[in-house]
Amino acid sequence: AHQWRGVIAEYADRLPVDETTRIITLGEGGTPLVPAPALSALVEGEVHLKVEGMNPTGSFKDRGMTMAITAALAEGAKAVVCASTGNTSASAAAYATQAGLTCAVLVPAGKISMGKMSQAIAHGAELIQIDGNFDGCLDVARKLAENYPVFLVNSVNPSRIEGQKTAAFEVVDALGDAPDYHLLPVGNAGNITAYWKGYKEYYDDAVATSLPTMWGFQAAGSAPIVAGHPITEPETVATAIRIGNPASWEHAEAARDESGGLIKAVTDEEILHAHRWLSAKEGVFVEPASASGAAGLIKEHAAGRVPPGKRWVITVTGHGLKDPDWAVENPELTGAAESAAAPTQLPQDVETVAH
Ligand code: F0G
Repeated sequence: AHQWRGVIAEYADRLPVDETTRIITLGEGGTPLVPAPALSALVEGEVHLKVEGMNPTGSFKDRGMTMAITAALAEGAKAVVCASTGNTSASAAAYATQAGLTCAVLVPAGKISMGKMSQAIAHGAELIQIDGNFDGCLDVARKLAENYPVFLVNSVNPSRIEGQKTAAFEVVDALGDAPDYHLLPVGNAGNITAYWKGYKEYYDDAVATSLPTMWGFQAAGSAPIVAGHPITEPETVATAIRIGNPASWEHAEAARDESGGLIKAVTDEEILHAHRWLSAKEGVFVEPASASGAAGLIKEHAAGRVPPGKRWVITVTGHGLKDPDWAVENPELTGAAESAAAPTQLPQDVETVAH
């Protein structure tokens, strides 16, 4: 039986590698495209979820990180650095470990989930909490890479985008063509940049006969692209996308404009409602930020802007276990059963439990 070999081996002819490249991989990619029956019924179309939480460290970042760490090794780097809201740091830490590289991660103090922090620590990364937000962390990481012998593995590194574009290839390979619409969260804007690049490459080579319309969604308190200016103090419960000045801003706008798409904002309430929808109606548990694409579809549908009979792919970017507190601690926000907050405790007795 064929075992998935990771995105570099699977798409080697479309990535900047050759036979001599020492590939660092944890078997990322090959993630399921899961049908979403409840969303499909809502929009009277065909909705699929690209479940990126199924990657080795639980987020889509692994697709880019296999390339970035492979590139770091090829360049003879001994250490890598990144700024992160949590997922990039978890991924960098894991891939650097396999490569035998030292890894330092800069995260906004008190603003990343425990699950993500535990990953960076478990993989032995140097975890540095910065008094500031993601944008400040990225600024420091860039300057470190400029002035010291450390290799930057944020998505401003083109190899990250190269790896991440493979998700678009997988969607087309699974569906037989591009979807009509592709929806996803937008934070630092690397992923929308990467998907658009991947879709265009398949289209240019006639692997796909069409291009999707790209719809990106930022959290309302952290929506610089929607506002048209950087946000100095971004806020949102979706800490993964708590970003005020995205590095790939212009590429995101290009993806939006070239595809005839949009980048809009969804509120924390809409994000948590979609988070609950995905877990309770589709069976897919994601972290809050990952629900913004679904939140956007639900919102646009309510506004009468969703045409029927279309094929939709929504990337859900990270696993629910990354940041599980929302389901347990905020049932009133997520609409989850109240019993989640105060679990029923009963004696060990069949009769009692049955009733
Ligand atoms: N969803 C999740 C779960 C993320 O972790 C991120 C970004 C995004 C969406 C947005 O993707 O930045 O390419 O637009 N997380 C980065 C990090 C910033 O450090 O883990 P983007």
